[in-house]
Amino acid sequence: MTSPPKNILSGIQTSGHLILGNYIGALSHWVRMQDEYNCYFMLADLHTLTVTQDPKALRERCYDFLALYVACGIDPEKNVLFAQSHVPAHTQLAWALCCFTQLGELNRMTQFKDKSQRHAANINAGLFNYPVLMAADILLYDAHLVPVGEDQRQHLELTRDLATRVNHYHGDIFVIPEPYIPPSGARIMSLQEPTKKMSKSDANEQSYIALLDTSDVILKKFKRAVTDSGSEVYYDAVEKPGISNLLTLLSIMTNSSISALEEEYRTGGYGRFKTAVGEAVIEHLVPIQQRYHEIREDAGYLTRLLQQGAQKASEQADTVVKRMYNALGLIPQSSLS
Ligand code: AMP
Ligand code: TRP
Repeated sequence: MTSPPKNILSGIQTSGHLILGNYIGALSHWVRMQDEYNCYFMLADLHTLTVTQDPKALRERCYDFLALYVACGIDPEKNVLFAQSHVPAHTQLAWALCCFTQLGELNRMTQFKDKSQRHAANINAGLFNYPVLMAADILLYDAHLVPVGEDQRQHLELTRDLATRVNHYHGDIFVIPEPYIPPSGARIMSLQEPTKKMSKSDANEQSYIALLDTSDVILKKFKRAVTDSGSEVYYDAVEKPGISNLLTLLSIMTNSSISALEEEYRTGGYGRFKTAVGEAVIEHLVPIQQRYHEIREDAGYLTRLLQQGAQKASEQADTVVKRMYNALGLIPQSSLS
């Protein structure tokens, strides 16, 4: 007998623009995994509220992200695609998990330290509790695997600790999830400060490639990308972080090994090499952008996707909240009839 496919849950915050780092570090892996696993892919819209949002822009952006998920190849028939805010179970479980989380554990989260520095005027309790909501996201779907970039590893560790703690006191409530961190390209670096992660919330637009950047803009951004002293193209993450990042990108975009690319571009200068990287990225993104524009214009289709996703996601998530609430001793509503 074959065992049933394992569950996967992942999501991206609907803030900023979806960027090449998101595609390489997350979306492209989701696409690869969708045939093998039972996948739940989420618009992490509640997570964005930790930073002040313009309500109108947030709503449009959620539709943009949904259309981009599909344009990147996430099949809404094979997977459950949904908005976090449409499934109340997320906040219901997050509250219970908060009561199992120590302040010290949240204080150690590097993303919290980082974000509270960047948003010093608004260090709200949501920002602090963000990893607990993320743990709820994952545990609600009995996820065995969670594909994320390297920067989310610490949040996954906390999720595992919380699940283990609850299971220890209350029996087998949660599946203990494993991070799935892709081996190559897990961390695409900023084009302007190549020792820093390429981030969709970076104030400097030159530092990232947005999935919807036009071809002209993409080429310009690569031409302006900060590179290192010298003129030879070879991989050395310490001495040549800029060139190494571009080599990683080109290698992923063209499916060629770094060593083959070093051989091809070693001499001939940075200019030729940067243009090649830009062109490879454009070739990859143009078909995605074409699909995106078709989907984004079809409001009826996007609405149907969200309705269908909310229903399917809730079916699964509600069973886990009930499991947890029952175990904690709360009166089951079903016992009242
Ligand atoms: P974020 O954009 O930080 O909300 O991240 C959404 C997803 O994309 C997470 O799985 C991240 O780890 C991944 N991700 C974001 N930026 C990068 C990057 N520069 N390189 C690789 N993965 C990334
Ligand atoms: N915190 C993740 C990020 O910033 C987004 C996210 C929210 C997520 N909930 C999740 C990722 C659950 C994986 C699983 O990228």
